[in-house]
Amino acid sequence: MSTATASLDIEQAQHLGMKLLGDSTGALIGALMVVGDRLGLFDALAAAGPLTSDGLATSAGINERYAREWLSAMACHGYVAYDDATQTFSLTPEQAFCLVNRDSPLYLASVFGVLPDYYRNLDLLTDAFRHGGGVPQERFGPEWGCGFQRFSRTWFVNYLCSDWIPAMPDIDARLRAGGSMADLGCGNGLALIQAARCYPEARLVGFDLHAPAIEAARANAAAAGVGDRIRFEVLDAAAGIPGAYDLITCFDVVHDMPFPRRALPQVHAALAPGGSFFVLEFNLSGELQANIDHPFGLGAWGYGASVNYCMTTALAVGGEGTGTCMGEAPFRELAAQAGFSEVRRLDFPNNPLNLIFEAKA
Ligand SMILES: C[S@@+](CC[C@H](N)C(=O)[O-])C[C@H]1O[C@@H](n2cnc3c(N)ncnc32)[C@H](O)[C@@H]1O
Repeated sequence: MSTATASLDIEQAQHLGMKLLGDSTGALIGALMVVGDRLGLFDALAAAGPLTSDGLATSAGINERYAREWLSAMACHGYVAYDDATQTFSLTPEQAFCLVNRDSPLYLASVFGVLPDYYRNLDLLTDAFRHGGGVPQERFGPEWGCGFQRFSRTWFVNYLCSDWIPAMPDIDARLRAGGSMADLGCGNGLALIQAARCYPEARLVGFDLHAPAIEAARANAAAAGVGDRIRFEVLDAAAGIPGAYDLITCFDVVHDMPFPRRALPQVHAALAPGGSFFVLEFNLSGELQANIDHPFGLGAWGYGASVNYCMTTALAVGGEGTGTCMGEAPFRELAAQAGFSEVRRLDFPNNPLNLIFEAKA
């Protein structure tokens, strides 16, 4: 027996083995979640349940054998409830809150929508591990964008106008009085669509370097009936930001920026006197040990998102590759070098997922 085997703690090995199987279960369920989301299976169950597999097949217009296997997987995994006496499936209020109610702060059914592109890009990613570089943003298509948009939308409908902007009373007052807001890295535009509803007088502009995101943002704004209220433009913040704004926002963008040391000074220059730079990041740290000890165990999620998208899209264009786990101290350092004199951390107990800052010129 080798020394390594002699010193093996079999209980720990078993624990790790079960964790590996559990994690592969999560990956398999991820594929089923994407299919379920594409076909509206949770919505069909919520609307018509409790349902047998026959009932779901009829309501959702799918094959019964697949409905049965999908429901069985979801029941074993705790995503749907099962009543053995009637052989029916349903959603508890909590399951519906997280899987069906799109306005709930815990609506997370869409997060799996980013997975197909991650798996499609694995050859390119492996190449990047070997030779450097990355996976360009163009390799993340509409399903990725839509999955992310429905994830971040819950922040905007739940917190933007009730918590976040009111935490900066001077900015809130300016927007009410017709002030200006630029959302940098606006993605599919949902933050500004929400702002248009809450601040009917405000002048709103969205910038993003990814042209398909700007097209989606324009379409979303038109569909929401606020297409004439928001201007969306393709723009790389690192190349300069036209205009001057009372509020500039970055929701989950700074750590994605290929060149944050060029972009943040442009933000500083584009703030109107007394204006604020509002930054939302994930509640992760720049320190590995803190992420290993993360209270919700989100460290691996952060680094996983980073390698699959955030760091890797920046490295694809020769950028810094800051990564998802930027955390507070590196952000403060970036803000200071960009010329911001004051960075205030805003803590919202109802949203422990995010780190939020207000920076003043
Ligand atoms: C993770 S997405 C977040 C999108 C949106 N803020 C949301 O919360 O749904 C990050 C976005 O930042 C954009 N972005 C990254 N660096 C940028 C830069 N230098 N200038 C403009 N947009 C940038 C990306 O194109 C992408 O759409």
